[in-house]
Amino acid sequence: MKIVRGGRLSLLLGACLMANTSMAQEGDVARGEAASATCVACHQANGGGMNIPGGESWPRLAGLNADYIAKQLHDFKSGERQNATMMTFANMLNDQQIADGAVYYSQLPATPGQGGDNADEALLARGQRLAERGDWNAYIVSCQSCHGPGGRGVGEAFPGIAGQHAGYISAQLNAWKNDSRSNDPQNLMGAIAKRMSEEDIQAVSAWYATQPAAEGEATQ
Ligand code: HEC
Ligand code: HEC
Repeated sequence: MKIVRGGRLSLLLGACLMANTSMAQEGDVARGEAASATCVACHQANGGGMNIPGGESWPRLAGLNADYIAKQLHDFKSGERQNATMMTFANMLNDQQIADGAVYYSQLPATPGQGGDNADEALLARGQRLAERGDWNAYIVSCQSCHGPGGRGVGEAFPGIAGQHAGYISAQLNAWKNDSRSNDPQNLMGAIAKRMSEEDIQAVSAWYATQPAAEGEATQ
């Protein structure tokens, strides 16, 4: 058996680390701002998007996790996440532009969610209960068990949903419910959304829209 000396070992470790970091493409904020020129028509110059009741709401991107944003753009491109509008725009970006756009939006300060203000107290209370405690009778786990305290997100896998627009949150929950979105590896959201009633969806969407989002990640 060969003995790996200290020097050789740290060289090997160094090589492994380099291989790891080069897998995730490095993004650049200034280049990202340039690449996002075509996005502002819908996601707005401040990345805040817009709630469009009954329409295809444009999600807020400002302050979302960069790796989460990049994954979604790759998924739109490959068709893994199906949306005709976003496939068109994601197709205009190469891998580097996706990485750049993702860090650009992630470091913008989060803007407030829209669409929850007119909800009545009872609906908001129901939404808060689902978010924080779930509904054991319907086997619905609390949203915060994955999306973190206050729904402000945990790393790249569990996006922040607090301060997102109500119309977008409910559209996504309905998409999982009817199997038109299924791009997370274990389809965790599909299992949950299918157990939610239409009223549950309205309630939790309105409540999260009224909640403060996490601050944007400080990148660079
Ligand atoms: C014509 C309007 C429009 C334009 C332009 C547009 N988007 Fe979107 N975007 C949408 C809509 C609508 C959705 C929600 C899609 C869905 O329901 O799955 C979305 C979703 C997204 C998401 C997913 C967010 C999440 O929280 O999962 C990302 C990321 C995104 N867009 C990035 C971009 C980028 C980057 C550009 C520019 C290159 C862009 N979009 C241009 C309308 C647009
Ligand atoms: C078991 C873990 C888990 C639980 C519990 C959970 N989620 Fe999720 N959720 C996820 C994952 C993972 C994703 C990211 C999917 C992807 O990668 O596309 C997600 C994504 C979302 C999104 C899309 C965000 C965006 O920006 O597009 C919404 C909206 C959402 N969840 C709402 C909820 C609500 C409301 C609840 C509670 C009723 C909930 N989730 C409970 C795991 C969970």
